[in-house]
Amino acid sequence: MNNFTFQNPVKVLFGKGQIAQIREQLPANSKILLTYGGGSIFKNGVYQQVKEATNGFNILEFGGIEANPKFETLMKAVAICKDEQIDYLLAVGGGSVLDGTKFIAAAVCFEGADPWDILAKQAEVKAALPIGAVLTLPATGSEMNGNSVVSRIETQEKLAFGSPMVMPQFSVLDPEVIFSLPDRQVANGVVDAFVHVMEQYLTYPVNAPLQDRMAEGILHTLIEEGPKVLANRNDYDAAANFMWSATMALNGLIAVGVPQDWATHLIGHELTAYHGIDHARTLAIVLPGMMDLKRENKEAKLLQYGERIWGINQGTTNERIDAAIAKTVEFFESVGIKTKLPDYDVPSETIGKIAERFEQRGYKVGEHGDIGPKEVSEILESRL
Ligand code: NZQ
Ligand code: ZN
Repeated sequence: MNNFTFQNPVKVLFGKGQIAQIREQLPANSKILLTYGGGSIFKNGVYQQVKEATNGFNILEFGGIEANPKFETLMKAVAICKDEQIDYLLAVGGGSVLDGTKFIAAAVCFEGADPWDILAKQAEVKAALPIGAVLTLPATGSEMNGNSVVSRIETQEKLAFGSPMVMPQFSVLDPEVIFSLPDRQVANGVVDAFVHVMEQYLTYPVNAPLQDRMAEGILHTLIEEGPKVLANRNDYDAAANFMWSATMALNGLIAVGVPQDWATHLIGHELTAYHGIDHARTLAIVLPGMMDLKRENKEAKLLQYGERIWGINQGTTNERIDAAIAKTVEFFESVGIKTKLPDYDVPSETIGKIAERFEQRGYKVGEHGDIGPKEVSEILESRL
C-alpha cells in the first residue's frame, strides 16, 4: 500500500427528517446565501423544509444554477456575495449546485485578478466562504469532497478544481428527497458513482485488499440497489443505500494508498463541454473504450473485477477481459444509459477536437500518465 494522508471533516446528517437539523449547524448571526438550481426544490418540498429549518436566519437566495454549472452564472452570485457581505453559503441541490457553490465560495475570497484562474491555472484557493449542503441527487460525492467542476459557455470548456477549503462543513443526506428524481437522473447517479469507484480501483494492484473490497462492496451495492430505486422510487431503503454508496464512492476513503486513474472523467468532461451530454453518460461512453485499450496495464485488476463483481472465472485472459467489459456495458444499458458516440449524435470530428485539446494542455493522464492525444483518439474511435 502507498503512503497517504487522509482527512475528511464533512459532518454528514443522514436519514429522513434530517433537513430540520440545519438550524443547529448554521452559525447564528451569519448572513446566508441559499443557492439552488432550476427549481426542482420547489416541487418536491425540499425548499419548504429548508425554509422551516432556517426560519429566523438572515437569508438571501440565488437560483438558476444550471446542470454543469456555468462560470457566467456563478459570477453573478459572486457579485451578490460581495455586495451583500454574505458570510455563509447554503447549497440545496445536486452536484451542479454544490459544485457551483464551491466555486462561488472560492471566487468571493480570491485575491487574484480573474477567478477563472482557479480552474484554468489551478490557482491556489487560500480562503473560501464556509458551505453547508442539502443534497438532492446522489451521484457526484460533492457533498463530502472538495472537488468542483465548472463550465464556461464562452470558451466551451469544462474544468475542475479541488481544495479542502471548499469541503462542506455539513451535508444533509435525506434519502426521501430523491423520490422526485426522474429515471434519467437516477440512472446518471448510479453510473457516475460506479465510474468513480472504477477510477480509483481499476488500475494496478498495490496489495491494498481493504480498499479493493470496499470498492467492490460499493460496486455490488450500486448494482443491487440502483435497479430497485429505478423500479420503485418510494423504496426508502433502496434510496438510502444508493445515496450512501454514491457518497462513499467519492469521499476520498477508497482512494487512500492506491493509484488512481481519472482519464475517463477528463475525456468525458470534453464530451460535455462540446455537446452538453450528461456527465454520467459521457463516462458510460468512454469507460468501455478505456478498459479495452488499457487491458494490459490494467490486466490484474480487470480480471479481479470480472471475477469478483460479475463471477467471470472461465476462459483465456482476453476472453475474461472481454466478458468483463461486456458486463459493464450491459449494466449501463440496463439502467437506460447508452454507451456509444452515435447514440448521442456526436460526429467523428469531435474526436480530433478533443485530442487537440489534450495536445494543447499537455495532458498525460491515467495511473501511468500514458494517456495523451493519440490514446484519447483510439479510445473514442472505438466508441463510434
Ligand atoms: O436544477 P434542478 O431544478 O434542481 O434540477 C436538477 C437538474 O436538472 C435535477 N434534480 C436534482 N435533484 C432533484 C432533481 N430533480 C428532481 N428531484 C430531485 N431531488 O437533476 C438535474 C441534474 O442535476 P445535477 O446537479 O446537474 O446532477 P449531478 O448531481 O449528476 O451533478 C453533475 C455535475 O457534477 C459534476 C459533473 O461534471 C456535473 O457538472 N461532478 C462533480 C464531481 C465532484 N464535485 O466531485 C465529480 C463528478 O465526477 C462530476 O464531474
Ligand atoms: Zn463523475
